[in-house]
Amino acid sequence: MKKEVKPVGSANDELKQKYIQINKLYIKTVKPIFKKSCFDCHGNTTNYPWYYKIPGVKQLIDHDIEESKKHLDFSKDFPFVSHETPLKDFEAIEKTMKDGSMPPLRYRIMHGDSKITEDEMKQVEKWIKESREILK
Ligand code: HEC
Repeated sequence: MKKEVKPVGSANDELKQKYIQINKLYIKTVKPIFKKSCFDCHGNTTNYPWYYKIPGVKQLIDHDIEESKKHLDFSKDFPFVSHETPLKDFEAIEKTMKDGSMPPLRYRIMHGDSKITEDEMKQVEKWIKESREILK
């Protein structure tokens, strides 16, 4: 009987292909939402608000950005820079967006349009669902 020889690294290649597929969907459907509501802290395209200049505020915002990126950094697209696995990231994203803890209230107050609409939430949930399927 002939033995099937798997090329070295094939499992990794398979996973990489899956990530590429997920990232394509991310860029098309979810990235614009994250750009609007998350990137000021979790990305590298911070639009500093006018009140950044107010004494004390600069430190608060800098701290927010530093802290947020320790958890999750969206600036290199998917898979996100994180201490967690992509599956754990999905869980945390879904949870924090649904319970309204992300984007934080203090941020939403100053950036009215950062609030996640029902439609946007559906888009994010759809992407996460599809991504989980792909990773199965
Ligand atoms: C004003 C800055 C700010 C914005 C905007 C923001 N975040 Fe965060 N985020 C933080 C900070 C700070 C932390 C780390 C501390 C904490 O959990 O509050 C964090 C942590 C997280 C975590 C990790 C929580 C955990 O349980 O480990 C997730 C997931 C997350 N954010 C998702 C998002 C998503 C998705 C958006 C956009 C819809 C967003 N954040 C917008 C500041 C922000």
